[in-house]
Formats: sequence, C-alpha cells, structure tokens
Amino acid sequence: MRADRLGHGLRLKVGLCLLLLVLAPARGASPGEAAIASAHPLATEAGFEVLRAGGNAFDAAVAVSAALAVVEPSSSGLGGGGFFLLRHADGRSGFLDARETSPAGARAELFLAADGRLDREKALNSALAAGIPGLPAALEHLAREHGRLPLSRSLAPAIRLAREGFAVDEKYRHLAQARLAVLRRDPEAARIFLEHGEVPKGGWVLRQPELSVVLERLASEGAGFFYRGAFAERMASEVRRLGGIWTAQDLASYRLREREPLLIRREGAVILTAPPPSAGGVALATGLAILERFRWRELSPTDRVHLLAETWRRVFRDRAAHLGDPDFVPVPLDLLSDPAYGAGLAASIRLDRASQSAWLPGGGEPVEGSDTTHFSIIDAEGNIAAVTQTINLPFGAGIVVPGTGILLNNEMDDFALAEGQGNAYGLVGTSPNAPAPGKRMVSSMTPTIVITGERTAALGTPGGSRIVSMVMLAVLDVLEGRSAAEVAARPRVHHQFLPDVLIAEEGAIEEPMLAELRRRGHRVAVESRRWGNLQIAIWDRSVGRLEAASDPRWAAEGAARVETVTDAEVKR
Ligand code: GLY
Repeated sequence: MRADRLGHGLRLKVGLCLLLLVLAPARGASPGEAAIASAHPLATEAGFEVLRAGGNAFDAAVAVSAALAVVEPSSSGLGGGGFFLLRHADGRSGFLDARETSPAGARAELFLAADGRLDREKALNSALAAGIPGLPAALEHLAREHGRLPLSRSLAPAIRLAREGFAVDEKYRHLAQARLAVLRRDPEAARIFLEHGEVPKGGWVLRQPELSVVLERLASEGAGFFYRGAFAERMASEVRRLGGIWTAQDLASYRLREREPLLIRREGAVILTAPPPSAGGVALATGLAILERFRWRELSPTDRVHLLAETWRRVFRDRAAHLGDPDFVPVPLDLLSDPAYGAGLAASIRLDRASQSAWLPGGGEPVEGSDTTHFSIIDAEGNIAAVTQTINLPFGAGIVVPGTGILLNNEMDDFALAEGQGNAYGLVGTSPNAPAPGKRMVSSMTPTIVITGERTAALGTPGGSRIVSMVMLAVLDVLEGRSAAEVAARPRVHHQFLPDVLIAEEGAIEEPMLAELRRRGHRVAVESRRWGNLQIAIWDRSVGRLEAASDPRWAAEGAARVETVTDAEVKR
C-alpha cells in the first residue's frame, strides 16, 4: 500500500476533531440539498423522485430499498432482510433490525450430509436455506413511523420498475453468470431471470409482473398480507413443496426489532453503527479500541496493514466465540465494546511479528461468493438513512416462490450449522449462533454513520465477512478527512481470523510492503477480483456541502448524486 493509502492525512484534521465533540449538527443547520448513493442509478432516481414529492430521507429509503429489490434482484429483495440505521435531523437515532429469522422446524442436522459434514447445497441452494423475510415489515414500519408520505407513494417507483421493466446491466449479467447453474435448476427463477436459459444479453429488459403485484399489495395494504392470511399460507406451502420448512405460523411470528444503535466515541467523533445480531458494529468498537493503543496515525503504511490484520484476527475470533441473536443468547456487548477490553487485546499484539490464528481456538474453510447491497441517504434537512439489505449470495437460494416473483434468500447459511466448518464466507461460529426457532442469524451487515466535528458521513457496503473490514477502513478514512470519492475508491485489505490469510486487492499492497509483511509472518494472498460496493454520502457541515460516491469497482453513471430539491418540486 502506498504511503498515502492508509496514510497520514489524519494529522491535519485531528486537532480540530479532538476539540469538537459533536452529537448533533448545530441548531438550524441543514444541507439544503440531498445526497443519495446506491448500487443502481434507477434506485437512486427512485429516492430522488420521492424526495421531490415532499418525502424525507426515510421515505426515500423506502423507495430506494424497494427499487433495489427490483433492479438488483441478485442482492436483496422482499424475500430477504436488512438493517436500517436512521438518524433524524434533531439528533434522534434508531435502528430497524429486519434480519431474517429461522423457521421453527430448522435444526442444524437438516443441513448435514450423511458423513456429518455441512451439505453446502442444502445450506445455500435449496428452499431449506431460506429464512423468514424481514424486508416487507421494515418498509411498512419505516414509512409509518419515520416517513412523511404514504407507503403507496414511496413504493410507486419500484412498482413501475417491476411492471415496465428495465435493461439489465453488466453487474446483473456477471452475477447471473456466477449463479447460472443454480438459476437454471428452478423453472420459475430461470423463466424470470434468464433469457431462454442463458445469461441475458446486455440491454435485455427484465420485467417482473408478479413482483409488481406483490409490491402493489404492500403499497395498498401494508405488510400484514405478507405475514398473515391467504398469501402467507400460499407462500409457506409453496416453500414446503420446494423442499423447505416454512409454515404459516413462522411468517405470522415474524417481528421487526427496533434496537439502539451501537454508539462508539473515538477522537472526538461519534460513530453510530449496527448492534447485534450484526457482528460488524461490535468488531468496529473493539477494533478501534485496539488501534487507539498504537497511535494509529503515526504508524507507517506497513505497520498499519500489519496492525489491521492482527486486529481483525482478534475481532473475528471474538465474533466466532460470542456473537448470536441478542434476543436468544447473552452477547457480552459491554465487555467487547469496552476500551479496556480492546487494550487487553492490543497487549497481545507485536508490531514486528504476526501472531497466528492457530494459537486461538476454532477452524474454518473459505468458500467464494457474496452479495448484498447498501445505500446511504442524507436529505436537505439533515435526516440520514444508512441501509444494508441482503438475500445473501447472488440471487439468494436461486428459487422463486411461484406466482410471487419473490426470490428466496439463503440466509440460513449465516447460522453456525456445523461445528468447526465455515459458512459461505469461511466464517466459523459456535453455539451462540446455532439455529433456533425464530432466531436471527449473525450478520456482517454494518450500516454506519460517522459524526466528526466538521462532517457527517453515512456509509456501508456489501461483501459478506469483508463488510466488517471495509467499513472499518472507511471509518478510518472518514476520520482522516478523506472525500467520499476517495473513501469509496481506496484499495482494500482483509483478515478474518480463519482462514489465517491476509488478503489484499491487487494494487493495495506494493512489493516492498508485501515482502515485509511476509517477513513478519503473514500469509498474504493478493486477489485479482474486486470486492465490495461501498456507497457513501458525506455532509460537510463546516461549509454546508454534500458529497455522494458509489464504489468505482461497480459504479454506474448516476448511482451517487447530490441534488437540490426545490420548493416548487416539493409542492407538485
Ligand atoms: N448474508 C450476509 C450477511 O448478512 O452477513
């Protein structure tokens, strides 16, 4: 990594940051324009359409979330879940946990092969892999409790996109190729998402009329029909016919959870992030506490990468040992987010030599693949939504509930299903993350808001386990004063305890640093594939300016924009 990459810019900003502890923007301050960064220009436009109609950031979040479910079906959908981190302009914050839950009939043994090993086909590519969806409940709640517009108005762009269709992009084609064999196996998925059984050609128009009907019902009736009554019963029986175990009672029992965001204070900044069942916020809290013990800003670029690897090794170990659904198991959140605990872990780190994950308990195997999506919104008044939503792997389980257009997620794989065997991201877990009726599986999704003395940033990314390291790198970048575009573009490194490998994007680590890291004892793998799709909006309150950036690894024109929403448009 070059000297400027995980570099030294922070020194310039830190004096100011230390002086200003900002819990809320100055009274009366507001950006005056709005910023949206999402993974798809049509979803971003859906958000602006709703802002122009008089909506706030939360109405726009409903619009963007639902539009992404239509135009980026590989990444999220009504059949999936998500985390919604919200901050009102008056300083109130909230967190909607719309994570999927385990059906009552799920047991880890259902996912094992005869030899006792995890059967990845069952855990990833079957109806058994599907958790009970949370996104419909979240959309209704968000509109009712935080928005200004009726749900029907905020869902209108998504309904239109599903009914009229849109031309698929390169990312769609790339992910359809990656999951082609699975999509071909399900006649309904193949009919909707493939062109005569093949990856569609560029410009092919994807129309989802069945999904538009479901969205119309959501718009007119709210989410009740999805969870109770004839529609829910039909979905459950179709999922059972396809080999799954959903019951109508599983759907009726689904509850959205409102939780307190996890709050971290560092260097005069306030960081709001995802609490359990996300593992990402806790990792951020422990990780930042570890870095603090090392005078992070004064370290050389090589020391920074070394220290990040040692930090992630430890926070991912803690994830495997402690993280689970807080409604089911005691998660030692106070301990893990206590700076003293981070200091204790820091004491076991040497800057001149790598430790080894084998010295710590656990074991796992890496398997490729991840999807999920994130968007960030700051409206003209200063309301903020940072939302990460998912159906897990690209196109989830690759199975559509017939007649609904709804893709099943394969989120059950995020439970610890087999002792010592990693999930699709190579993540290991233990009994706190074992499946149980109605329990939420641990997630890496980490929507985050960073408030420094001068700036407020909303950020997040997909990327499976790598979300955790990407969000931490982005938070450090924001604290160093980098622009939205710089934060989104920066090269990435990752470590997750197991496998014991420091992974780097091509170009992130240059030869002399690579040699030095290896000399210190790191196993380093340089990957040619890009990872993550970070979406970030920053409000520089000191000059009253907004920025938005989409990750250049995937960004399409118009995915991240700042716009002035005029009074005339609002009144229309
Ligand atoms: N399904 C990916 C995650 O929630 O971490």
